[in-house]
Amino acid sequence: MKARENFGSRAAVIMAMAGSAIGLGNIWRFPYILGEYGGAAFILLYIVASLLVAVPIFFAESIIGRRSRSNAYGALRKLAPGTRWHWAGILTIVSPLLILSYYSVVGGWSVQYLFKSLSFDFTSAPAEAVSGYFGTFISSTWQPILSHTAFMAMVAGIVLGGVKKGIEKFSNIAMPVLFVLIVAIIVYSLTLPGSAKGVAYLLKPDFSKLNADAGAAALGQAFFSLSLGVGTILTYASYVKKEENLIVSGLGTAVSDLLFAVMAGFAIMPAVFSAGIEPGTGPGLVFETLPFIFNRMAGSLPIVSAIISIAFFVAILAAALTSAISMLEVGVAFLTEEKGMKRVPATLLLAFFTWLIGILCSLSFGPMSGVRILGDTFFDFLDHLCSNWLMPLGGLVFTLFVGWKLPKADVRDELTNGGTCNRVLYRVFYYLIRFVAPVGIVVVFLTNLLL
Ligand code: TRP
Repeated sequence: MKARENFGSRAAVIMAMAGSAIGLGNIWRFPYILGEYGGAAFILLYIVASLLVAVPIFFAESIIGRRSRSNAYGALRKLAPGTRWHWAGILTIVSPLLILSYYSVVGGWSVQYLFKSLSFDFTSAPAEAVSGYFGTFISSTWQPILSHTAFMAMVAGIVLGGVKKGIEKFSNIAMPVLFVLIVAIIVYSLTLPGSAKGVAYLLKPDFSKLNADAGAAALGQAFFSLSLGVGTILTYASYVKKEENLIVSGLGTAVSDLLFAVMAGFAIMPAVFSAGIEPGTGPGLVFETLPFIFNRMAGSLPIVSAIISIAFFVAILAAALTSAISMLEVGVAFLTEEKGMKRVPATLLLAFFTWLIGILCSLSFGPMSGVRILGDTFFDFLDHLCSNWLMPLGGLVFTLFVGWKLPKADVRDELTNGGTCNRVLYRVFYYLIRFVAPVGIVVVFLTNLLL
């Protein structure tokens, strides 16, 4: 059997894991949730939810992945032979592909918007055309499918290259580019007249908004943003070398993820407020409001505005790609290791399957918008199924497995690298993995059921 690939260095591990974590969830979801739930006060809540629940789950997945050096399914079978734990592994093969199928549709939008920016469409068209574009585009039949296809092709292309030459190499380029672009956009955004109101929207702490709802939102956001519960982190951790410090790479990922989310807020909201627009929610914020703003700014300096719009959509595309490859890799690792398939056919097969489901998601904004499952369009149904049920369920399985099934000595060995580091932190996190995180997840389930 061919030796398993590993990430080359600590920087590569953090870059790849942060690449998975930092994505659409940071750019369009975090900024408006932050504003909605009390700005700086919500950041505090988010940090608490991350440290108590999300980061412990991240460690549980990392421990299972690196200990077993296997794909998500094989990992549970290897660490608990003769039990039924690995059945949960099946879930983790299916869920990331389901997420990818609708994630790729939004990724496709960013491809389309990049093209529009490159051809100066947003900056030269009349304002009404720009603000109406999003609705027309996503509800049409072929164009969004074509963009989704282009996005999936890029994802497959990177994953075909393997762990080192594909995922690691791409993340090592995309993440620094992403960082530089976002910093440039922040600087620009803060210089716009009236941008201070956007800063106030993001930061003004409003503790009165911190209720149970905000708690659930913080936890849900942390879950999605850290790519938890579907075996993504598990699979990436299985490529992490024994000498790496799992706690350092986990906390490094969580901190960069949060920092990036806040930075995205500072890139977007000052511009939104400067244009005198109320921040919308969801995809509308990035794909509807921003092009409109780029169009408006074009009046005075069309070239600057066009460059910012290109930079912005390159950033979104880069962030979405590094996340999407982590979702595809889970299934590819499964097929190559458990079913003996080669990487190329495994990648193509899963990409094709995901692409097909993605087409239904794409059509659900247009010709298929009348098709409802439990009252939701196909796209929304998949999102709700994954975010509200499959991800927390996977998180619960992983924490229970590490907290209650895996021998304590193994957990200690992984988190402390054989007793050489993190001895105090290990105790804290072991406790959190055993007790606090599972309870937190059950609370998420209950709120999903009741709210
Ligand atoms: N974390 C990514 C984001 O914020 C999305 C993501 C990547 C993800 N891999 C995942 C979400 C696995 C759930 C599961 O956009």
